[in-house]
Amino acid sequence: MKNDKSKIKLISLPKIEDRRGNLSVIEKDIIPFEIKRVYYVYDIPSGSERGGHSHKDLQEFLVALSGSFDVILNDGISEKTIVLNKPNIGLLIPAGIWRELRNFSSGAVCLVVASEVYLEDDYIRDFDEFMCSKKTTDK
Ligand code: TYD
Repeated sequence: MKNDKSKIKLISLPKIEDRRGNLSVIEKDIIPFEIKRVYYVYDIPSGSERGGHSHKDLQEFLVALSGSFDVILNDGISEKTIVLNKPNIGLLIPAGIWRELRNFSSGAVCLVVASEVYLEDDYIRDFDEFMCSKKTTDK
């Protein structure tokens, strides 16, 4: 059985430390896909949850630019939680993984670098449908 979760990966970004402040960069070859879109989630009310979907083809790379939040990942077999709380460490999420974002700290900003432009047809937003898709594609 194909296990998409094996490709979930934390990736360290270069951190250029300076008395004037630190600088991190995401560029070609740091993440394993061509960047087609960048978006960010911010002004997140306390107790709010985001995500709650998987993607058929799209890969994403998430960075907590500010503050912290939990990313709950499910590959159809098991679930794990990764805490993002450093602007120089990002989380690579391959296609076929259900993700939920919770426990946002005050002032949290979630940067998302994506391998595709926005396409609603690429989303699976229903968990039961996601589980069914894993049963049919992972044989
Ligand atoms: P949604 O996927 O529900 O956000 P999240 O997974 O972070 O909770 O997207 C929220 C809304 O924004 C939805 O109406 C689709 C729209 N949207 C775009 O128009 N373009 C984009 O690139 C993204 C990510 C979302």
